[in-house]
This record gives sequence, structure tokens and C-alpha cells, in this order.
Amino acid sequence: MVNTFSTANRIISGAGASGHLLEEINRIGATRVLFITDPFMDKIGLIDKLSVGLKEAGITSETFSKVQPDPTVHNVEEGLKKLIESKSDLIVAVGGGSPIDAAKAISIAVNNELPLSLYMGYQKIRKSGIPVIAIPTTAGTGSEVTKVTVISDTKTDVKMMIFDDHLLPEVALIDYELTLTMPAGLTAHVGIDTLTHGIEAYVSKKSSAMTDGLALSCIRLVAENLENAWNDLKNKTAREAMAMAACHGGMAFTNSSVCLVHGMSRPLGVQFHLPHGLSNAVLLPTVTKFSISGAANKYAQISKEMGFAQNTDSDEAANHNLIKGLEALNRRLKVPRLRDCKGMDEVRFHEVLHKMADDALASGSPQNNPMVPSKDEIIKLYLEAW
Ligand SMILES: NC(=O)c1ccc[n+]([C@@H]2O[C@H](COP(=O)([O-])OP(=O)(O)OC[C@H]3O[C@@H](n4cnc5c(N)ncnc54)[C@H](O)[C@@H]3O)[C@@H](O)[C@H]2O)c1
Ligand SMILES: [Fe+2]
Repeated sequence: MVNTFSTANRIISGAGASGHLLEEINRIGATRVLFITDPFMDKIGLIDKLSVGLKEAGITSETFSKVQPDPTVHNVEEGLKKLIESKSDLIVAVGGGSPIDAAKAISIAVNNELPLSLYMGYQKIRKSGIPVIAIPTTAGTGSEVTKVTVISDTKTDVKMMIFDDHLLPEVALIDYELTLTMPAGLTAHVGIDTLTHGIEAYVSKKSSAMTDGLALSCIRLVAENLENAWNDLKNKTAREAMAMAACHGGMAFTNSSVCLVHGMSRPLGVQFHLPHGLSNAVLLPTVTKFSISGAANKYAQISKEMGFAQNTDSDEAANHNLIKGLEALNRRLKVPRLRDCKGMDEVRFHEVLHKMADDALASGSPQNNPMVPSKDEIIKLYLEAW
């Protein structure tokens, strides 16, 4: 089988990596920069901090700060307007996955026909966009190194997954110091999103020797550091390791694939506005239990990497411990059951079950799962996770 591997063109990581912004703008040769971020990042003064020295270097900058969590088509349209008005030749995306995803979509929207829904699925974008420098502040989605953007269409209630090499950032500046302000809940949710990227990339039908090492590294780093970061939010060692876990997980899944957990979590996110990481976390143990027999040896390896089983344990014993271990991890990180998440409503949950299952299947992600589910099986899994 032939495999393709691609990621951000240049990755600069470590404490103070975001201080390399001016150098990277000059290397690219841009002179007009548009920062794309969310209201919180702008409010805490991060854009002002990152802008220091730009003006003196002859670089003009403007900011679009209206990206909302789980960015929408409307966010992209507004940002595109700002990009065109400002005549910017470079985008700097600052924030979690939401501003980075919005920036990637805005970048290609300027050179390609709209609506964005034309590009749902794999490699459908015709022309490259404006270069993007991505500066993540969560750890995280890994969006800074992926060829993926996820944009919600509020007219159809679909979280569109668009996957294309034209979406790859030119540069990722991964500065874990920017993640030190994350509160405990966000740390847990984005950390389990990262873990899910590692697990799904590793067991995916599209996994390869190129992605397996990165996926296992992601899993190991999460196992060793997520709880330390959650217990001690200013723990720099744990924060740095989680930033790397997010990057390795992103590089792995974008060249392998995410699978059934992500397929089922996107509809939950769009219907009930659950944060992306939380919607993955509530599904991860249930979906893993369903999928395990399709890749028993790989799941056993994951269990061992996570410290849930010994190297000498049988696959069966390791896999039993993996389910128990993932359930216990959720409990320790105070991840509620699906029914107890803020915004969940039992009547509506039943009303939209069929649409959620259809949308999960239409995204293409469940087809990469070690066990490919039918629509009825997806409905059963939602009910089991409830
Ligand atoms: N493109 C990809 O490869 C990819 C992968 C996974 C998820 N996603 C998408 O990313 C989005 C989720 O991104 P996310 O989980 O990073 O969160 P987010 O960007 O939606 O941010 C969530 C909240 O956290 C706040 N926040 C961000 N950084 C912070 C910090 N350092 N301190 C305090 N608060 C901070 C934000 O202001 C926001 O209110 C979803 O739309 C999801 O679908 C994309
Ligand atoms: Fe994710």
C-alpha cells in the first residue's frame, strides 16, 4: 500500500516559540498580517503581546476576533470579508482549534468558490490559499499541524469535516507557555481529545508505519502527563509534554484518520453544543468496547502504553483493563456521563438520534474504524453512552 505523509511545513516548539513570529513573517516575506482569534484571547492581551515589533519592522496588522467555539460558516464569511478589506497576505491564527480551523477555512475561501460545503470530505479544494501561521493555546486539537478544518453549518446542523493538503499551516509555533492559563475542565477535555487522536490514528484502517510511532508517542505522553497538568495547572513539564502530545496526535491522525469516536462526537457537538473534547470523552470508553475486537492486538498495545496492563499480559486481559482504565480516567478527570453534560436534553436526544447516526456515517470517519458500524449499531452506542 502507498502512504502519503504531510504536515505543517515548519514546526517551532518550546517555551517562547511564539516569540519567533516576526522572524517567520519575514521569512515568508509578508507585509500585511491578519490575526484571527477569539474574543477571550484578544481580551487577555495576547494579540497585543504577539504584535510587539511588527509595526517597527514595517508590517501592518489587523485583528478579526469574532471566532466562536466550534466555528460556523458565518464566522468564516465575516473573517473572509475582513481578510479581503485588509488586503492581508498572511494569516496568524491564535487560540484553540476553533480560531485555527476558522483561519484555515478563511485562507482557502479567498481563492476558491464558495460555499464551503463543496469541500466536505477529502482533497476537494482546487487552489491553495493565503499562508497561515498557527499558534495554539490549547493542547489540544493538533490543528496547527493538520490538513483538517471542522466548520459548523448552522443551516443544516452539520459539523463539516474538510480534509485537504491546502489546509496545512505554513508554520506552527507551539509555545506551551500559552497553555498555562487553561482551567482544569478545559485541560481535561482537550487532553482527552488528544488521547482520542492518538488512539484512533493507531487503530484506524488507514494507519501506517509512518503514523504508528507518532500515535503511540501521543498516547504515552498523555498517559504520563495529562493528570499532572490537570492536578497542577502551572506544571510546565506536564504542559510542555501535553503540547507535544497534541502535535504528535495531530500529525498521526491527519495522515491516518480519526474513526468512530470522532464520527459520533461531531453530531453531538453540533446538536447540543458540547465542547469537542468533552463529546469525545463521553463516548471514548463505550466506542472502544465496541471496536476492540477489530484490532485486539493494537488496543492491547495502547493499554500497555497507558500503564493499564503489563507487557506480559494477554491481549484479552490488556483490553479488559483498557476499558476499565478509560472509564476510571474519565471519573478522575470529572468527565460526567453524557446524560449529565450541560445542555443535554433526553427528549431532544431521542428526537435527533437518527439524524446524528446518519451524519456520523456521512462524515466518512466511522468507515475507518476497526469495526465498521451500521446505523442501528451507532444508535445503540449513543444510547449506551447516555
Ligand atoms: N482541525 C483539526 O485538526 C481539529 C482536530 C480536533 C478538533 N478540532 C476542532 O477544534 C475545535 C475545538 O478546539 P479546542 O478544543 O482547542 O477549543 P476552542 O478553540 O473551541 O476553545 C474553547 C474555549 O477555550 C478558551 N481557551 C483557549 N485557549 C485557552 C487558554 N490558553 N486559556 C484559557 N482559555 C482558553 C477559548 O477562548 C474558548 O472559550 C472544535 O471545533 C473541533 O471540532 C479540529
Ligand atoms: Fe478531535
